[in-house]
Amino acid sequence: MAYPYQIKSLEEYQQNYQQSVMDPEGFWANVADHFYWRRKWDKVLEWNFKDPDVKWFTGGKLNITENCLDRHLGTLGNTPAIIWEPNDPEEHHRVITYRDLYNKVCQFANVLKNNGVKKGDRVCIYMGMIPELAIAVLACARIGAIHSVVFGGFSAQSIADRIQDAQASLVITCDGAFRGNKDIPLKSVIDDALIGCPSVKKVIVCTRTRTPVSMIKGRDLWWEDEIKQVETMGNPPCPAEEMDAEDMLFILYTSGSTGKPKGVVHTCGGYMVYANYTFVNTFQYQPGEVYFCTADVGWITGHSYIIYGPLSAGATTLMFEGVPTYPDAGRLWSIVDKFRVNILYTAPTAIRSLMGYGLGPVNHKDLSSLRKLGSVGEPINEEAWHWFKDHIGKGRCPIVDTWWQTETGGIMITPIAGVTKEKPGYATLPLPGIQPILVDEKGEEIKGNNVNGNLCIKFPWPGMLRTTYGDHERCRTTYFATYDNLYFTGDGCLRDEDGYYRITGRVDDVLNVSGHRIGTAEVENAINMHAGVVESAVVGYPHDIKGQGIYAYVITERQTHDPELTKKDILQTVSRIIGPIAKPDKIQFVSGLPKTRSGKIMRRILRKIAEGELDNLGDTSTLLDPAVVEEIKRSRL
Ligand code: WT7
Repeated sequence: MAYPYQIKSLEEYQQNYQQSVMDPEGFWANVADHFYWRRKWDKVLEWNFKDPDVKWFTGGKLNITENCLDRHLGTLGNTPAIIWEPNDPEEHHRVITYRDLYNKVCQFANVLKNNGVKKGDRVCIYMGMIPELAIAVLACARIGAIHSVVFGGFSAQSIADRIQDAQASLVITCDGAFRGNKDIPLKSVIDDALIGCPSVKKVIVCTRTRTPVSMIKGRDLWWEDEIKQVETMGNPPCPAEEMDAEDMLFILYTSGSTGKPKGVVHTCGGYMVYANYTFVNTFQYQPGEVYFCTADVGWITGHSYIIYGPLSAGATTLMFEGVPTYPDAGRLWSIVDKFRVNILYTAPTAIRSLMGYGLGPVNHKDLSSLRKLGSVGEPINEEAWHWFKDHIGKGRCPIVDTWWQTETGGIMITPIAGVTKEKPGYATLPLPGIQPILVDEKGEEIKGNNVNGNLCIKFPWPGMLRTTYGDHERCRTTYFATYDNLYFTGDGCLRDEDGYYRITGRVDDVLNVSGHRIGTAEVENAINMHAGVVESAVVGYPHDIKGQGIYAYVITERQTHDPELTKKDILQTVSRIIGPIAKPDKIQFVSGLPKTRSGKIMRRILRKIAEGELDNLGDTSTLLDPAVVEEIKRSRL
């Protein structure tokens, strides 16, 4: 069998789960045994959640790219590793076999070396969804450089913050990116970002859109020229750097309840084992299947389930450059049809937006190749779940509603496709190795079924974050200090009569807009940067397609004579500071905000108003000035 640790039945799931709790070290050692280690580990796990200090497979030596590439060459050399579908359906797709990918990764790893990149250096990657993005990521891993991929929708300011925080020495980008009917000028955004980033010595620019770009002598290099250079050297091999299991593999920035995104750090050994284990089990991947995850590599889903999970399993992973609605709302279904896709992993927001176009775009597409469907990023509402099940899966395909986070590295609570009995709206049961608990405000465990609480995890798993880059204390206070000896997810959760978990959403000041995590404080900071803005408060409200929309209450210095224009200006400012994904859906100008006597904004009230629950604002007795609330209610959007 291809994956000896692949669970095949409910009984097997239960046995594995029991073992993973009784003997976690034995359980994970058995899984880890199926990878290629240069040197076996001395100790499977050492941990405490107080510092926190978590180490998996200490003493183990490996390189994740040897597990994703080298070890497959003998058996899968001619098998497609990446199938790439361009934004424009008229343009030719690309098929990159495991051997091609190995060669390209080694070649580009040599480019990085030629440009002085060494083990432990940080490399920022800001590219569109082209195969070279996966190649860049893997090339970093090959030589032990720490990659920090920044999503192509972030602004120059956001990139600069991330580059400075990581002190990256090299940036890999493209001239531009095609997304739907847009051309995004990536290099030009990078040029703006780099004005304040002296740590960056080199920028490598891959050609995609061939939009005119400025190339600064001594700093900016064309990807293609650098490759030629390596070819002139006779394409020497690039032996993989030997990494400690606990060496950093990558940083990925994510938002929290404070204004500044944090760099979540994942390490080589544990992350590899976990991404692979969860991929193989959740989706029940079978050799030869074509697997398509619609996420962007700029998010954790792309890291774990476009690149590392599938490639470490020798799977064929389909990478799509464009968006689900271009050139029409049938694009995903056309791709499934064209490549006979067997597994489709997407997001509720995409399903909801495509549902809006009716069945026209689905009809006449051959979806009979589909065997398994997946959802991630936010709670999936029952209507979307059933539409996905009936109209895409034609009632034949299990749906896995996978709950996890950037910090968890891989899927945590999910059905196992075809094994776990599913229930719409429920992420169902924890994978082996994952020990969820629900706690109340004081951190007391809430036992039994039919209960609601804050979701925590009480035992380490190999894929968990190890620190937040450059600020370990922040990691401790954010995740390990709310409740003693527990990892706190920030999510609320219900456990039903079957012991099934249903995630109810964030319990902190974090929004989930179209599956993207956005901190309210970050959006407020950006709005407050706008000239004339005195103060603002941002909350989420239910949005039919995005899941949550962004509602901003804004106080300006004086009455603006053209409020609509001022709103547009604020949106422009937010785009500049964070990126278009953080633009508020609604902006309401107010003369004051509801505050307590101690000056704290009462967001609960603002949330209720944004949700339209005007008559049920809860306890307002601590309000400093009740008249403010009446005014806000009157002018609500
Ligand atoms: C937050 C993590 C994990 C990759 C995508 C998002 C929410 C994620 C689900 C789900 C309900 C979900 C949670 C979580 N979330 N998956 N299946 N059901 N909620 O990664 O940006 O780190 O966000 O997304 O609120 O905490 P992320």
